[in-house]
Amino acid sequence: VEVASPEEADLILVNTCSIREKPENKVYSLLGRFKSLKKRHPGLIIGVGGCVAQQEGETILKRAPYVDFVFGPQGLYRLPELVAAAQSRNQGYRSQLDLSRDFHIPLVKGDLSSKGDPRAFVTIMTGCDNFCTYCVVPYVRGREISRPPTDIVSEVRHLVDQGVSEITLLGQNVNSYGRKDPELPSFAELLDMVAEVEGVKRVRFTTSHPRDMDQEVMRRFRDIPQLCEHLHLPVQSGSTRILKAMNRGYSREEYLEKVAMLREICPGIALTTDIIVGFPGETTRDLEDTLSLLEEVRFDQIFAFVYSPRPMTRAANMTESLTPGEKSQRLSKVLELQRRIGLEQFSRYEGANAEVLVDGISKGDPGELTGHTRGNHVVNFPGEPDLIGRIVTVYIEKACHHSLRGKILDQRKQAA
Ligand code: 5AD
Ligand code: SF4
Repeated sequence: VEVASPEEADLILVNTCSIREKPENKVYSLLGRFKSLKKRHPGLIIGVGGCVAQQEGETILKRAPYVDFVFGPQGLYRLPELVAAAQSRNQGYRSQLDLSRDFHIPLVKGDLSSKGDPRAFVTIMTGCDNFCTYCVVPYVRGREISRPPTDIVSEVRHLVDQGVSEITLLGQNVNSYGRKDPELPSFAELLDMVAEVEGVKRVRFTTSHPRDMDQEVMRRFRDIPQLCEHLHLPVQSGSTRILKAMNRGYSREEYLEKVAMLREICPGIALTTDIIVGFPGETTRDLEDTLSLLEEVRFDQIFAFVYSPRPMTRAANMTESLTPGEKSQRLSKVLELQRRIGLEQFSRYEGANAEVLVDGISKGDPGELTGHTRGNHVVNFPGEPDLIGRIVTVYIEKACHHSLRGKILDQRKQAA
């Protein structure tokens, strides 16, 4: 049973991310806060999982000896055993370190929907074989493993039974699903299978690698009615030179060609991306290339980061050419440009009706509802909570930064 605060908990699990340095630093400060809790409540069990756990391993137990167990992303399925061992701990109990990599993705049963949210994620593959030079993922998450389609479909069915209607298929590199095993369907075929499950009203997926985004998948945006018209396609940089140094496997031109092809097949598709600024050796010319790519593609939204050297990666051995101040200046430039483009992009929806799945009560205003369009734009609008979980038509009145405002068309009729 979930509790409201760490003070009330019998079990605290810290799930960690090591994609950049900042979230990694937060782990130890958070654990520091839990130390006093353990003194007051000796029965408290603390576990640390995820990628920082995989990377740091023993170090976590040394720096925070009150932690009961540490487990990597691949050890997730053994979590029940780790908790049980800690629960029955007696005098001889020692903290457990479980970093083995014999991974399978378990079939999750029980209550999977979180607080009535009609959206859920389903893991279809884990790990990554790409080795982009800045990225720690292949080292902490291991090689790509695809999950059997029967498991994926039964988890989707289970979620639908619990009231979920929007499924997001999840993986580091979903487009390479099944490529290593001829027995498995292709990612495009898997999309068909998931969309066919009765009760699935919306399907999304993340994340796609531009190099692996092929026409077979692109055509699904046109052919599968449930597949929402949004694609997150991380470009990282607009400079072919930097893309090469990043080992991304595509040029600026190839990326732009894919975007054009996608828009031809599915006009109006909403695109979002990730950008890294300040990669080692990035010149002002390279930065200009990134800025001009943003102008050219016109993403609805971007997630931009300052380059952060990561242990074990190839880029960590490259000499950094910019100071932290210069890097954050570059980040501001990118964000400032996107602020304008994003608002212009969002303004296209003003005065139109949008199909919105109502996710819940708005965080900013408890008197309002919040939901997502098919293009994955957040929409806030006045409405009654009995609409949560339904798909309604909302008239978009105003575009804001990162969200839309609207009013629901004939609420009573839609509730009926
Ligand atoms: N530094 C900064 N950003 C990074 N990302 C991945 N590794 C790093 C790093 N070392 C970003 C990429 C990726 C997103 C999830 O995180 O843009 O797409
Ligand atoms: Fe990391 Fe994504 Fe590159 Fe894999 S494809 S190495 S997860 S950035």
